[in-house]
Amino acid sequence: MKPLLSFTSLILLSFAVVLPFAAFTFILHGWSFSSDVPRHQPETMEYCNIFEGVWVYDEAARPLYGEEDCPYIYDQLKCQAYGRPDRGYQHWRWQPRGCSLPSFDASAVLEMLRGKRMMFVGDSVNHGQFFSMVCLLHRIIPWHAKSFQSNGSLSVFKAKDYNASIEFYWAPFLVESNSDNAVAHRIGERVILPWSIDFHARHWKGSHIIVFNTYLWWMNGASLKILRGEFEGDREVMEMVREDAYELALKSMVEWVEENMDPHNSRVFFTTMSPTHWRSREWGGDPNGNCFNQTTPIEDPTYWGEDSSKSMMRVVAEALSSTTVPITILNITQLSEYRKDAHPQIYKKQWTPPTTEQLANPKSYADCIHWCLPGLHDTWNELLYAKLLTP
Ligand SMILES: *[C@@H]1O[C@H](CO)[C@@H](O)[C@H](O)[C@H]1NC(C)=O
Ligand SMILES: *[C@@H]1O[C@H](CO)[C@@H](O)[C@H](O)[C@H]1NC(C)=O
Ligand SMILES: *[C@@H]1O[C@H](CO)[C@@H](O)[C@H](O)[C@H]1NC(C)=O
Ligand SMILES: *[C@@H]1O[C@H](CO)[C@@H](O)[C@H](O)[C@H]1NC(C)=O
Repeated sequence: MKPLLSFTSLILLSFAVVLPFAAFTFILHGWSFSSDVPRHQPETMEYCNIFEGVWVYDEAARPLYGEEDCPYIYDQLKCQAYGRPDRGYQHWRWQPRGCSLPSFDASAVLEMLRGKRMMFVGDSVNHGQFFSMVCLLHRIIPWHAKSFQSNGSLSVFKAKDYNASIEFYWAPFLVESNSDNAVAHRIGERVILPWSIDFHARHWKGSHIIVFNTYLWWMNGASLKILRGEFEGDREVMEMVREDAYELALKSMVEWVEENMDPHNSRVFFTTMSPTHWRSREWGGDPNGNCFNQTTPIEDPTYWGEDSSKSMMRVVAEALSSTTVPITILNITQLSEYRKDAHPQIYKKQWTPPTTEQLANPKSYADCIHWCLPGLHDTWNELLYAKLLTP
């Protein structure tokens, strides 16, 4: 059988379509049209701050998947399954001011990841972003061609036909600490080894795309205990101002990246602080409330919560400003500040059943740190996707 269109006719057809269009564009824009690239194109995102914009309620376009369609989401983020009465939080779409985000294309991402490892490294918030990425990708992969394994600090999703793996590694401070056990990490006195990164980094070595985060765990008091040397042997514990300790840890991360990541064949990202919503008085709500029972985003464009430390943000900006291997900052803080509605609240699996007093006062056991899935994390991954498309 002959193909419907021969190669020559295809060429002719494309001229027939493209030429009048080009002529039309030329008439509209004169000589300047080549520099005036249309919106929605990846090239224009270079000139657009995709982290600046507004939330648009869009029931038709969001969410990108159903909670029940993604079997991997862990129970702390499955808000509908645990009784959340409203769904509005799933329907908000991020609209940057200067351009539109490219629509998330799962097969394009899997193609990018062919033969590669993508690694999310950090705390439970980054764990949520990892689940979101898995949920966004798994739908186009048949059951027999994917696998999911979780093992202590490491979770691995594999797309076999692509020889691609998407992984999460738990390291809440990135550097070594005494809180690194993935299960038993709720301990009284935290001690951090800001110079010790290989302890964890040996698990990331060989990854092609790494997305780091670390913030919340640093926010327990104005100073932290750090340790020179090793846990075993000669110990010298000292108190250090939080910002200084954070800077040391970020410098260790940057040094590791510079020594281990190939700038031509890899990408490194750092996700900025994820906001919490513990006090509704901050956005002009109930003087004693928190994120519990919040169903809409904050509308004040200048809103910035007290728990998002500007001085810690400055440390990030400074530490990542001039690295020999570029580290792309995913500055999700401002856009997430608005989303007081997007936390699990009380609608998640509880480690221990709530007491009678807690049940009488539900806000007392609300989670105002993590984010329901589908939800805000999907937007972070759309932004990550946009950044992956641009150098
Ligand atoms: C699969 O990907 C890994 C990297 O994650 C690579 O080392 C390996 O060579 C790949 N295998 C094949 C068969 O392409
Ligand atoms: C899981 O952890 C155990 C012990 O740390 C290790 O022996 C095993 O190889 C790991 N499996 C995977 C799939 O990572
Ligand atoms: C939740 O908020 C609504 C107003 O938005 C209020 O009427 C209701 O009493 C609140 N529920 C609880 C349990 O606080
Ligand atoms: C992230 O964005 C906020 C404003 O939205 C800005 O104040 C902050 O400096 C940015 N952080 C970094 C590390 O670029």
